[in-house]
Amino acid sequence: MQSTVLNISLNRDSEEPIYRQLIRQVQTLIDSGMLSAGTRLPASRDLAKQLGISRISVVNAYAELRSNGYLSAHAGRGTFVSREKASNNPITAPQRAIQQQTNSTQSIRDMMRLARKPGVINFSHGSPPKEFFPVRHMQDAINSVIDRDGADALSYEVPEGYLPLRVAVRDYVRAIGIQCRFEDVLITGGAQQAIDLVLQALMSEGETLLTADPTYLGIMDIAHARRVHIQGIPIDEDGIRIDALENYLHDHHPRLIYVMPSFQNPTGHVMPIHRRRQLVRLAERHQIPVLEDEVYREFRFDGEHLPPLKALDESGMVIHANAFTKMLLPGMRIGYLIADGQHYDRLVRVKQAADISTSGLNQRTIHTLLERGVLAKQLERNRLELRRRRDAALQAAAEFFPEGTSWFSPEGGLYLWVDLPHDGPSAPEVFINGIQMDVAFAIGSMFYTSDGGTHAMRLNYGIHSPNDIREGFRRIGDAWRDLSMNYDNVQKSPML
Ligand SMILES: Cc1ncc(COP(=O)(O)O)c(C=O)c1O
Repeated sequence: MQSTVLNISLNRDSEEPIYRQLIRQVQTLIDSGMLSAGTRLPASRDLAKQLGISRISVVNAYAELRSNGYLSAHAGRGTFVSREKASNNPITAPQRAIQQQTNSTQSIRDMMRLARKPGVINFSHGSPPKEFFPVRHMQDAINSVIDRDGADALSYEVPEGYLPLRVAVRDYVRAIGIQCRFEDVLITGGAQQAIDLVLQALMSEGETLLTADPTYLGIMDIAHARRVHIQGIPIDEDGIRIDALENYLHDHHPRLIYVMPSFQNPTGHVMPIHRRRQLVRLAERHQIPVLEDEVYREFRFDGEHLPPLKALDESGMVIHANAFTKMLLPGMRIGYLIADGQHYDRLVRVKQAADISTSGLNQRTIHTLLERGVLAKQLERNRLELRRRRDAALQAAAEFFPEGTSWFSPEGGLYLWVDLPHDGPSAPEVFINGIQMDVAFAIGSMFYTSDGGTHAMRLNYGIHSPNDIREGFRRIGDAWRDLSMNYDNVQKSPML
């Protein structure tokens, strides 16, 4: 039996030891399905020669991969990808699914750390453009708050949040169609905490959360931390598929549905009004709460705004989450939830248990920025600049990405979701090669609750100038072409 050729790329300048890089990359190849169970790995001497490293590094890496169950050795026959790894575990099926997914996401994430290398044009972040943060306004606002409120601004706040900010949020969401009272507003530590609180308040360990597949990475983190089973539902260009959701609900009883109706992360899709209505009706019929995450709502630069799900909700099934993070200042960590009485009291109790209250100083500062009209100006500026950057990204994608690549043209948000040709190198392979060329992106498979996205990339065009977008996309195209030449050779090799 011939051994396979391993597509490994080591970084000698990295602080991470070579044998650790090797372990990580072999794990990624196995987790992503690129190396299947039973595949024979090259002998340590051959791999050391192929990679130009010492044999002892390979021997150590193989030993650790054997001890953590990724590989198995058979005397005289060689080293193989383990078949037993998952199936030997005396754990339940949902736990195994959670564990397998955590392992695979973890090793891809480990790989993503390479993107921190200085000089890399990095499209992998989820941040809005930093150069436009209203830093001076924020400094003035903090000073005004401290002058006005003194020690009160630095004391404990009530868990529900600083009252004038809750009133301002009520007015803001009323303007987008959500009929609520300030008593329905709970201030949180960003949208991330808002989501986490909802999971804690509504779900118990082992229960099922439904989400679109692919979905926001952070919801997977929360689900894993809270030991909740996460089930992905397929999507189309209008978002989560209602027929697939209905099928699932026919036989199962999930506790919560999580969706991003506007500029879904990672795909950039927007749920049209008819799909929003269908989803709300379905949730009502099945009495399943829906958590809508609208953090990208205000990043629309083409087309019309649509009402949030909460504006269509007549039975209190929808909980609305948003934040002044992406749209204003992520580091201030101010977000909010809008929930009806049936959920609200429980959410406040969980919030109090989590951190007593969100920083009073930060809440007051954001409130002052809202009063001074800074948010409106910031949104306008973001829209203009993001449209310019989106256009640059679409142009560069058409120019530099290989034939057969497809992408979704977003009307807003920060991301371009790209699918490379499926008969060529996968996204993790292109990522590793791209790092050598000083470019990085988010690997698509990270955003899937199970398999999927092997050739997908998420590119945050929002954080780069049009020139850097062009240069970065050119490098990605080069990384793909460079690999694809070797790829063709490997595919044609009689060894495989
Ligand atoms: C869809 C989505 N929801 C929530 C968050 C978290 O946002 P925040 O900074 O408000 O916690 C992010 C951040 O990337 C996101 O993409």
